[in-house]
Amino acid sequence: MSLLEVDGLAVSYGPIKAVRDVSLVVEAGEIVTVLGANGAGKSTSLQAIIGLLPAQQGRVRFDGHDVTGESPERIVRRGMTLTPEGRRIFAPLTVEENLRIGAATQVRRGNTAELWDQMMELFPILASRRRQLAGTLSGGEQQQLAIARSLMSRPRLLLLDEPSLGLAPIVVELIFDLIGRLRDLGITILLVEQNVHQALDIADRGYVVSGGTVVLEGTAEALKASADVQKAYLGQA
Ligand SMILES: Nc1ncnc2c1ncn2[C@@H]1O[C@H](COP(=O)(O)OP(=O)(O)O)[C@@H](O)[C@H]1O
Ligand SMILES: [Mg+2]
Repeated sequence: MSLLEVDGLAVSYGPIKAVRDVSLVVEAGEIVTVLGANGAGKSTSLQAIIGLLPAQQGRVRFDGHDVTGESPERIVRRGMTLTPEGRRIFAPLTVEENLRIGAATQVRRGNTAELWDQMMELFPILASRRRQLAGTLSGGEQQQLAIARSLMSRPRLLLLDEPSLGLAPIVVELIFDLIGRLRDLGITILLVEQNVHQALDIADRGYVVSGGTVVLEGTAEALKASADVQKAYLGQA
């Protein structure tokens, strides 16, 4: 049984069919990347998988449960979480307040103190800025905060939507390092990325989405070698 199985997903915004036919699987322990041009339907797919948008067609199974149509809160409690594109941190709140909000699903399990310590270890920059307003952090720090906030729900599956978008190359390295460490901690990752080289370097497998449809899938190695992927994304003929 795969950790995540998406089968024939379709999502519309009114008359606009943003996602037509997306099927993918993620096995526990993998990093799987989703590549595709702007507007291909990547973010819409992630939002439907986590229950923020309704699936018009298709099914989403997580950890053996059909979660299609469930609320995001319920899906997060099951162990899946999304770090959205554009970070969406709460700018007027402090780093610590942002993290406490992320822990909301955790409170009943009574283990936030341990989780907090783990976050401070994973993100030392956030530890030193815990009373700072989130809006005053740099882009890379805000991205770390967004990821840390997602981790406060103790996910087994983390959906990451363009975590390196708009960051300087050295900060991009840091974010990819972090993704590798999260995998080592046992978190399975579905990664949407524009940095195709780095995404295929870290991922086990990948899918290419175009016009709301999965048009290509394979191991990261196979995708790197694919003429179509090279032509479209890797700047080689
Ligand atoms: N809130 C929205 N309302 C209407 N159309 C949208 C909305 N969000 C995205 N779209 C459209 O849906 C398509 C897929 O968008 P998106 O999933 O954001 O693509 P990607 O993440 O791959 O760049 C695009 O054509 C986009 O313009
Ligand atoms: Mg997007």
